[in-house]
Amino acid sequence: MSLADLTGKTIVVTGGARGIGKAICTSFAQCGGDVIIADIRLPEAQATATELCRTTGRRVVAIQTDLTNLDDVVQMTSQALEQFGKIDVLVNNAGWDKLKPFLKTTPDFWDKVIAINYKGVLNTCFAVLPHMVSRKAGSIVNISSDTGRVGSMGEAVYSGTKGAIIAFSKSLAREHARDNIRVNVVCPGLIDTPLLKEIMGEEFGGKVVDSIVRSIPLRRLGQPDEVSPMAVFLASDSARYITGQLISVNGGLAMAG
Ligand SMILES: NC(=O)c1ccc[n+]([C@@H]2O[C@H](COP(=O)([O-])OP(=O)(O)OC[C@H]3O[C@@H](n4cnc5c(N)ncnc54)[C@H](O)[C@@H]3O)[C@@H](O)[C@H]2O)c1
Repeated sequence: MSLADLTGKTIVVTGGARGIGKAICTSFAQCGGDVIIADIRLPEAQATATELCRTTGRRVVAIQTDLTNLDDVVQMTSQALEQFGKIDVLVNNAGWDKLKPFLKTTPDFWDKVIAINYKGVLNTCFAVLPHMVSRKAGSIVNISSDTGRVGSMGEAVYSGTKGAIIAFSKSLAREHARDNIRVNVVCPGLIDTPLLKEIMGEEFGGKVVDSIVRSIPLRRLGQPDEVSPMAVFLASDSARYITGQLISVNGGLAMAG
């Protein structure tokens, strides 16, 4: 049984080349959606697009985009609209981090983390929302993190950006409910992706992640395809009365109050 019927829908997924984003592209395409992968890694994004076209029979294209650059994002949006005619769903998934204590970070590092994780989301929403407003239809799903809800050792700046995404999403949900546009947030816990492997490959990151894994009630890392169904559900018509909400997919690590 399919999770949702997204036949005829067009979905933009940022950071869809690999990790959680790739799983999100896969789930949307498996539900009948056509997908635009907006990612800075063109060869990986193209490989994902080719694989999904073959396995799902849907239209999946890769557009090289640096989300930190508004001109690039505007260009990606125009290309997507030229090729697909509309954008029904925007999933802001791209993100980046490196674990280090706050006092060992530098202003350049803050700028990079803020640009990718937070400004990237502002850029895509700024570029795509006018189109959704003109159609009086749309759904935005932002991938934040449990760190944005409860904080995380060695991820102070990243956690700040993820908290910002939550507050921004709730505000946008209020501003655009009258336009029939819903905005929701998914907060993953620790998910087995290339990014997490990079983090665990360093001494400090490895120690922090190991200690967190031991306190996950379900006692393991999550898999990308355990996060993606939540993005599909929130974007689908089944969630038509849900907006401004966040949900964690975290094996019970942080429990909502
Ligand atoms: N893996 C986890 O444990 C975890 C936990 C909580 C939240 N998250 C969040 O989930 C999302 C996906 O993370 P992941 O672990 O799959 O990471 P990943 O590094 O495996 O994949 C991220 C993708 O984003 C792309 N990207 C990075 N910077 C970009 C830019 N400037 N422009 C365009 N694309 C860019 C990368 O090329 C990559 O394809 C991120 O927002 C991350 O913060 C991950």
